[in-house]
Amino acid sequence: MVAVKQEGWSSRTAFILAAVGAAVGLGNIWRFPTLAGENGGGAFVLIYIACVVLIGLPLVLSEVIVGRHGGSDAYHSAEKLAKESNVSSGWAAFGGVGISAAFLILTFYSVVAGWVLYYVGVFISDFFGALTSGDPFAGALLNETKEEIPQRMGALFENNFILLSMHTIFMFLTIAIVARGVTDGIEKAATYLMPTFFILLILITIYGAFVGEFGRAVSFLFTPDFSKLNAGVVNEALGQALFSMSVGSAALITYGAYVPKETKLAPTAAMIAFADTGVAIMAGLMIFPIVFSAGLDVAAGPTLVFQSLPIAFQSMPAGSFVGLLFFVLIFFAALTSSISLLEAVVAWAIKKFQCSRAMAAWGVGGVIFLVGVACALSLNIWSELRILGFWGIFAETNIMDTIDGFVGKVLLPVAALITTIFIGWKADKKLVDAESGLNGGKLAFWRFLTAWLSPIAVSLILIFGLFPSLLPS
Ligand code: PFF
Repeated sequence: MVAVKQEGWSSRTAFILAAVGAAVGLGNIWRFPTLAGENGGGAFVLIYIACVVLIGLPLVLSEVIVGRHGGSDAYHSAEKLAKESNVSSGWAAFGGVGISAAFLILTFYSVVAGWVLYYVGVFISDFFGALTSGDPFAGALLNETKEEIPQRMGALFENNFILLSMHTIFMFLTIAIVARGVTDGIEKAATYLMPTFFILLILITIYGAFVGEFGRAVSFLFTPDFSKLNAGVVNEALGQALFSMSVGSAALITYGAYVPKETKLAPTAAMIAFADTGVAIMAGLMIFPIVFSAGLDVAAGPTLVFQSLPIAFQSMPAGSFVGLLFFVLIFFAALTSSISLLEAVVAWAIKKFQCSRAMAAWGVGGVIFLVGVACALSLNIWSELRILGFWGIFAETNIMDTIDGFVGKVLLPVAALITTIFIGWKADKKLVDAESGLNGGKLAFWRFLTAWLSPIAVSLILIFGLFPSLLPS
């Protein structure tokens, strides 16, 4: 009998690159600086780091343990551990909820990644325009005034042809890579994209340090102003930490399944958390000096990257070239994350429907693409459609924001809560401890965080997310 080839990473480095690629994404470069900017900088960063260390990292380890032990997709891995622990396989629900979350995240993630792709195109044409005009070091978007540049985003949101073309290209790339398999597709993409990403991140940060207001950015990010803190900010920081580390969305469980038995999981989980947080902070150090030096508002919100930065690039030396590198960097980050989101669903579909990887990737990817089309259209012609309009917190949100909100407020916390209770209380302790590779004080501390602190903290995100009026101000 011919043995079926078991898929897996070819080395520990490959796993780390792929997992860091899954974690580092739009959340780090787009959301984190946005939230830090809106919530007073240093105080937010401090709380964020506490959330990563005390709640995010223990959960990352729990998820990778479930995956490596189960050796299958998130649902079937969780089910295997539940059965071996002699508890109801209902506990495997967190795998199913996570897979649903991955599916839904990718629908809008791909649309936002499409905006990034559009800006890559804008800056390519701008850069070549600058080259042919004989001044390669010209600032970006010179044919547009400072007032006109922000209108680009509004115009993009009105243009379904561009929105849908970019979404299509992005989903096509994601599906094509996942369809090639773990080693030939996902791992190869990560080994090219992630090192390039890191080089770009360092280069643009150095550029910002020279031409922008680096000192102001450093003091903004590292001087905590505690008057800015309230329960809402803490809640937001914890939610962002989970999203950024890809907790609760099946991706880490799925990637964990391809890790060889000899790999020590705890140091690997720590590296993922460390790299993800480091990139988020570096993204702040890359973006804020540029935003400050152009005299723009750091609290601009979600338009910070798409509107404020292009304005800033206009007045900076070689702005069109650096702008191009900047959007390529975000594009790479988004692509490695979307690959992990699709893989989380595809791994499950292959097992569930006993079909080939290619069929699962194109089938699942196709459905996600279609829901993504609805997200894109909700920016314009479907902006008044309310898919969960009966539910107070979603009464005013369009399709895209509703899916985003539903995942962030319901699915991710629910998946994380069941995971942490399962690992902390229900799963066979011997199996889990052996898989973790921890012992002594470290093991006891991880067990304490998993059994006590995480369930409480994640329950609070869930409660305050669903009933925002309960938040103490
Ligand atoms: N962590 C990614 C980001 O910060 O953009 C988003 C993400 C990827 C969430 C993969 C969940 C996931 F499974």
